[in-house]
Amino acid sequence: MEENIMICNCKQVSKSDIASALHSLTEFKDVLGAFEEVQFITKCSTGCGGCHDKVLDVISELMMG
Ligand code: FES
Repeated sequence: MEENIMICNCKQVSKSDIASALHSLTEFKDVLGAFEEVQFITKCSTGCGGCHDKVLDVISELMMG
């Protein structure tokens, strides 16, 4: 069950947006590599940058799960 909470308010990117961006990746390097890909796809964390740590947390959570 994926709660669809807003992670990046500037770019209106929700947790499920990040999840589907992650799922579209063909290979995983590490959390930071995945972050860059997800950022490129969703544009999350390209505004104020305040959500950076939240995005990283969500990615690591999803990758662990
Ligand atoms: S909340 Fe994500 S860039 Fe501002």
